[in-house]
Amino acid sequence: MSEEATKRAEKPRKFQAIKGVRDLLPPETALWNHVEQTANTVFSNFGFGEIRVPIFEPTELFARSIGVDTDVVGKEMYSFEDRDETSVSLRPEATASVCRAYIEHGMQQLPQPVKLYYTGPMFRRERPQKGRYRQFYQIGAEVLGGNDAPAIDAELIEMLMTFFDKLELKGIELDINSIGHNAPNCRPAYVELLRAELTKVKDQLGPDSQRRVDTNPLRVLDSKVENEQAIIATLPHIADHLCADCAAHYAAVKQQLQLRGVIYRENWRLVRGLDYYMRTTFEITAQGLGSQNAVCGGGRYDGLVELLGGPPTKGIGFAIGEDRLILSLQEGGKAPSKQGRDVYIAWMGEHAYATAVRAAKDLRQAGFSVELPPTELKFGKALSHADKLGAKFALILGENEVSEGLWTLKTLADGTQQKLPEPEIIEHLRDSLGQL
Ligand code: HAM
Repeated sequence: MSEEATKRAEKPRKFQAIKGVRDLLPPETALWNHVEQTANTVFSNFGFGEIRVPIFEPTELFARSIGVDTDVVGKEMYSFEDRDETSVSLRPEATASVCRAYIEHGMQQLPQPVKLYYTGPMFRRERPQKGRYRQFYQIGAEVLGGNDAPAIDAELIEMLMTFFDKLELKGIELDINSIGHNAPNCRPAYVELLRAELTKVKDQLGPDSQRRVDTNPLRVLDSKVENEQAIIATLPHIADHLCADCAAHYAAVKQQLQLRGVIYRENWRLVRGLDYYMRTTFEITAQGLGSQNAVCGGGRYDGLVELLGGPPTKGIGFAIGEDRLILSLQEGGKAPSKQGRDVYIAWMGEHAYATAVRAAKDLRQAGFSVELPPTELKFGKALSHADKLGAKFALILGENEVSEGLWTLKTLADGTQQKLPEPEIIEHLRDSLGQL
């Protein structure tokens, strides 16, 4: 056999999605759409406009903003050399890109603060498990410019809670903290204190935490390692070591949350895994997610725009893990809305087909979802097809209906049917679907 013939004889390879990435299919995608539309509505109500940023950026943008020692930049980015030998990376998050765009488009000239939101895929090479994917989706928002009034922090969190409330997401808990700022009498002093305390017990810590005592002692507070918990519980709390300005800011954020009726829990161990944060940090957990239960994370990052070459600019934002949000909604009993069809057109005979095409056009124009089979089916087959598709009505068009101008409409739930003159069909469907 020639090489060409051997190739043809081989069974073609079946492809599968790469580990950690997945397809989203109907009817589940209807729930995704519902979530995204709710975000559009709620965020617009709070004065946010949508921004769309690129999927890939210079690697340096993420390294500089998220931090080279973080897990995200250190080991999770998908980076590659472009043909001109610059390193680019698939975005692991979008805050850095939004700040880049703010600077690039001179948005400091706009009325401040600028309020932006985004939805889309992010990429991190993490170990896949329930609620953790290598391509995952975020819905995020950023407030850039203006001042750092605690009301901005509180209103942003209020918006989040309004969004979750609209979606009827159950069992959510909001944790907040302040991690101070980078002045000698604030976070750096606390970090040194923490390092000193941790050094005393270093030999009782696991390898990750031992490393972090040197590189980033704050991250030890994040540890989930069972036998480190008792040690961590004895460590000093950052709230007792904030400078006066940060302490006042934190107190005011809490007061502003109370004013808005937002229920929160203070969590002194909430430090977040990205380097750009200062002062307010927050995280929201939801039910039914196992160990990956953080459905949203965010915080203030006042120095970031300047770090990326822009003017001194205040900033705060959050990102919701949409995959986890959907999982939690499903665990809470929110079934993906069935795509279904309003009307299935069962047509019989060449003569009826032209009428069926016209009926489909008119009904779709009127806003109904319509299925028109492309080839003629026997009556019984057509009805069972309509059933399988979850259609609510079958519009039956045969020779008689067309010649009489009286169309048969069958309600599939109870099998009743009636004949109606063509002009009355749309009105009748509107009334009945309104009641279903
Ligand atoms: P983050 O905490 O890294 O923050 O991610 C936010 C949320 O994205 C997480 O709480 C989680 O729900 C979801 N998430 C993260 N990694 C994965 C994954 N591998 N699979 C599924 N979901 C995941 C940020 O990304 C910041 N940019 C948030 C922010 C915006 N801070 C200020 N502005």
